[in-house]
Amino acid sequence: MRLGPHELSSNLFLSPLAGYTNLPMRLTVRELGGLGWATTDLVNARSLLERNRTALKLVASSPADRPMAIQLFGSVPEEMRDAAVMCEALGAQGVDINMGCPVKKVVKIGGGSAMMTELDKTAALVRGMIAAVKIPITAKMRLGWDDDNLTAPDLARVLEDVGVAAIFVHGRTRAQGFSGGVNLAGIRSVVAAVKKIPVIGNGDVTTPAAAQHMLAATGCAGVSIGRGAFYDPWIFRRTEHLLRTGELLPEPDFAERVRVLRRHFERYVEFYGEEHGAKLFRKVAPWYAKRFGPAKPFKHRIITITSRADFEAALTEFFAWRAQFCDERGELLEKFAPAPLIASFMPGAEAGAHCSIPVPKGPVDVW
Ligand SMILES: Cc1cc2nc3c(=O)[nH]c(=O)nc-3n(C[C@H](O)[C@H](O)[C@H](O)COP(=O)(O)O)c2cc1C
Repeated sequence: MRLGPHELSSNLFLSPLAGYTNLPMRLTVRELGGLGWATTDLVNARSLLERNRTALKLVASSPADRPMAIQLFGSVPEEMRDAAVMCEALGAQGVDINMGCPVKKVVKIGGGSAMMTELDKTAALVRGMIAAVKIPITAKMRLGWDDDNLTAPDLARVLEDVGVAAIFVHGRTRAQGFSGGVNLAGIRSVVAAVKKIPVIGNGDVTTPAAAQHMLAATGCAGVSIGRGAFYDPWIFRRTEHLLRTGELLPEPDFAERVRVLRRHFERYVEFYGEEHGAKLFRKVAPWYAKRFGPAKPFKHRIITITSRADFEAALTEFFAWRAQFCDERGELLEKFAPAPLIASFMPGAEAGAHCSIPVPKGPVDVW
């Protein structure tokens, strides 16, 4: 598929996950194949302009990290414009705008006009960014405030007229947070609202089959995957393969999961330094562990690591403990294998398969 001037190798996107989709994670996922485009964590436009150290770390990239978009957040038009110019100078292939949910809740008095004012303001801000750079500007939004205010189609239409190159839509309302199912009809209404630009569907895609289903049910041009990429960093390769050939590749085995976990850890240490990287990795390893089968002692141990040696010791202890659940080939006995993932919007999800993905508390509720 095309995104602005870019021809992508697949229609699969890595969703921004603040605190996770840093350079080490993007490189780890890219190396496994199938990913068409990745976006950084959310970056505050003003902090970037002030060359704040944390902001610069968030936009750090490398030649292997292509194509890559930087996601900006901010409400001051001049800052967003200047930050977009800076992203272009830093070598980004695109800039994504975190819209959160820019439309204020429609209140009884003056609600409608407040919404239009907000839309006008948003359009003006985006227009300023587009005029300032050559790289494509995209926007990421939710469906709207709540089920009675599904504003994403209107917003998408306005943004297309202004010149954005693509729309990413998480198929939930702001009121939903991360609860309830993803509304595929809602994503479809955004697809129907735009004329030409690609709409990328997002939300709860944890399997290749779920990505295929979202594409078919909504008509979206591509699928963006966030948390699913943590359970299964191979999801892009497996989905790309399924879409291209109709064949579903098996999930990776334990040895492959550990190989990639190690690679991801090593990149953290290279990028953040040994002690800081090891500490930051404490919140990454448990995501891998969710697909390890029984792993309680490992999950406890890994949140204490401060070095490479600690990390390796945690793995060694885990391998020894895990043997009791395995056959002679080292594979989990069937009764201990984790249940297959089923996305919330797939038939059979209500049957109780492990499809819920926990979300940390905080501002993330509104993304
Ligand atoms: C930990 C976490 C951090 C997130 N950070 C961002 C962010 O920085 N910018 C953003 O637009 N969305 C952010 N999101 C929302 C995701 O990009 C995505 O829209 C949402 O998680 C639904 O997709 P998924 O089910 O594939 O994860 C975040 C979500 C989570 C769980």
